[in-house]
Amino acid sequence: MNVLVIGSGGREHAIVWKVKQSPKVTKIFCAPGNAGIAGIAECVAIKADDIDSLVRFAETNRIDLTIVGSETPLVKGIVDLFESRGLKIFGPSKAAAQVEGSKMFLKHFLKRHNIPTAYYQTFNQTEFEKAVQYVTHSLPPFVIKTDGLAAGKGVAICQTAEEAITTLKEYFRDKVFGDAGNNIVIEEFMSGEEASLFVLCDGKEYVLLSSAQDHKRIGDGDTGKNTGGMGAYAPAPVVTKEILKTVEDAIIKPTLAGMTAEGYPYKGCLYVGLMMTKEGPKVVEYNCRLGDPETQVVMPLVESDAFDLFYACASGNVSSYELKLKDSSAVCIVLASHGYPDEYQTGNMITGLEETADNAVVFHAGTRNENGKTVTSGGRVLGVTAVGYGLKDTIERAYDAVKKISYKDIYYRTDIGKKGLQRQ
Ligand code: AMP
Ligand code: GLY
Repeated sequence: MNVLVIGSGGREHAIVWKVKQSPKVTKIFCAPGNAGIAGIAECVAIKADDIDSLVRFAETNRIDLTIVGSETPLVKGIVDLFESRGLKIFGPSKAAAQVEGSKMFLKHFLKRHNIPTAYYQTFNQTEFEKAVQYVTHSLPPFVIKTDGLAAGKGVAICQTAEEAITTLKEYFRDKVFGDAGNNIVIEEFMSGEEASLFVLCDGKEYVLLSSAQDHKRIGDGDTGKNTGGMGAYAPAPVVTKEILKTVEDAIIKPTLAGMTAEGYPYKGCLYVGLMMTKEGPKVVEYNCRLGDPETQVVMPLVESDAFDLFYACASGNVSSYELKLKDSSAVCIVLASHGYPDEYQTGNMITGLEETADNAVVFHAGTRNENGKTVTSGGRVLGVTAVGYGLKDTIERAYDAVKKISYKDIYYRTDIGKKGLQRQ
């Protein structure tokens, strides 16, 4: 089988790494990939959102299965395009990808189907004054979200009405997120611990991968700015068996049934972002793809054939797939560039990558090859993942491996997995 993976981050490296272990896979391509992926797959210089070039590539190279890593091509309709040409692809249709592509769509959908989530109101750009009135007369904190995709940055948590009004000006008047901010959602702030679940669906049935927990803030102790994710661990002890049952009954099943009833059955990965509130688990967000960095801990815990899993989902028969998960823990420490998520330098040479092999696998996110050397090329550079028995030992193994790697301006959190340990 020839496989094409679309995207260029740590998530795509972890997918390529796992799918390649299948004896059925003869050739694996990644578009556009990165320096780490280039070591195990053939990277193709096509951007992830250039869906016309991607479909031409898949036809010319007789691709048997395409796995889409990032959301942009999904929201653009890559799945509809591939399927109209008879090509097998893992991911939701354009209509179903709206769960991530439009926060307004998602919130209205959750409300229609009585699925627990934060209380909300929506406003369009002609309703600036109305939105100002709303925040002035409601209790803070507020969570203000752009309706459209904003590269993970369109969510502002505002502690006061003044802060909220500043944010409203930025979204509606200064258009800092362009058209993505033409419509906004103002949500009630939920407190609690977050966790992520990956629901792999075939349009009818689903299987669940390990629960995981991301670390979104830049600093230890969950302080400082929001980032794309500074590390993850799986499984997440906060998702107990009882909570998982509640989430399946009150969230996952009604979501999949609702989407089918409304004419867009869900196929691909439904990423369920949860908040464990005092009233029980509630939906923070859905994504239409696997999460990053969570994929870097969830994929290594899949024992069974991952190619078969993605193929079964794309083919509508995941119920015939026997998912086996490892009875282990996985921990991923993201190594970033100093300054991220704001300004940072790139082009710094990375050393020590080979010395980690005994303890960990290193997934690349922002790296490139320069004259045969691997150098930094992004804010998040590497994801160092260890797999082991017990969360505590696995955290130690991951940090032992991290210490072997160096480059100028290296930055990482030192408390990945700590919340999981405290729960145990
Ligand atoms: P989103 O893009 O919707 O996932 O939001 C990004 C992050 O903002 C989430 O992972 C949460 O940490 C936080 N967040 C979003 N919505 C809420 C909410 N209603 N209450 C508290 N935190 C939230
Ligand atoms: N880990 C959060 C995300 O993938 O959106």
